[in-house]
Amino acid sequence: MERIVEIQDMIAAARRARREGKTIGFVPTMGYFHDGHLRLMTRARQESDLVVVSLFVNPTQFGPGEDLASYPRDPEGDAAKAASVGVDVLFCPRAEDMYPPGSRTSVHVEGITDKLCGESRPGHFRGVATVVGKLFHIVQPQRAYFGLKDYQQFLVIKRMVADLNWDLEVVGVETVRDPDGVAMSSRNVYLSPRQRQSALSLNRSLRRAQELIDEGERRPETILAVVKEMISQQPQVRIDYVVLCDPETLEEVSLLQGDTLLALAAFVGKSRLIDNAVLSVP
Ligand code: PAJ
Repeated sequence: MERIVEIQDMIAAARRARREGKTIGFVPTMGYFHDGHLRLMTRARQESDLVVVSLFVNPTQFGPGEDLASYPRDPEGDAAKAASVGVDVLFCPRAEDMYPPGSRTSVHVEGITDKLCGESRPGHFRGVATVVGKLFHIVQPQRAYFGLKDYQQFLVIKRMVADLNWDLEVVGVETVRDPDGVAMSSRNVYLSPRQRQSALSLNRSLRRAQELIDEGERRPETILAVVKEMISQQPQVRIDYVVLCDPETLEEVSLLQGDTLLALAAFVGKSRLIDNAVLSVP
């Protein structure tokens, strides 16, 4: 596996691969790899000739008071894990090269970025769309892989790619969970054993919601009340949002029909965790 730091070297490697007729599969990340990240890389490996993973803790997507400075990092461990699943290039640009003095351009996807996580993290998705757009230009992939755990992020990137006529496919990959059901996240390392117990309620409440629907419940307010109750009963938990919404527009629904996204975010201790499920309403 090759490690590339310079942006120009990454552009040159991508151009070379393209010239040789190779397809490029790309997985953007902020590092501290777990099996969720590795699943995306394995999928890219199966579907592309050259697999590029970027590792860049992107400052512009963190708000003031968020965990940019303390975001977990393990560059050596990450390199070993990426190599073990057959990644060809680990691209680790420097922040000062990605955002040199004088940068003035950002990408803003309207509407869907105002809701859910966008509401509690103003500017977050502008930072995400901008860095992912820049990385797409540098890496020039035919396919890019995103986890559905960050469902809204996946939607924002798909929208950006469609609206800006990017010639690439955005692939969504199912959420990878620990055996106890907790969605894997780099931020889970912050959890104490007691907080991890509390975190179990996130996924459990999503599953309970599907059960209620299977039992015939169709009132969003009833389902939301049960979910909120299950989570807020736990110690050291503060709900940020719990929403039932349209999986394409993220508009809240007043009636349950067809596929409906149940998305939630909660602070467990100081970690902000998110999870979601697309509920199917028969
Ligand atoms: P990061 O949180 O490192 O996640 C990188 C990719 O891994 C994202 O597409 C995310 O959805 C996916 N992922 C994380 N946990 C997962 C899980 N349990 N199962 C499946 N996929 C999972 O998301 C980011 O970085 C950044 O916002 C980024 C897109 C790199 C832009 O800076």
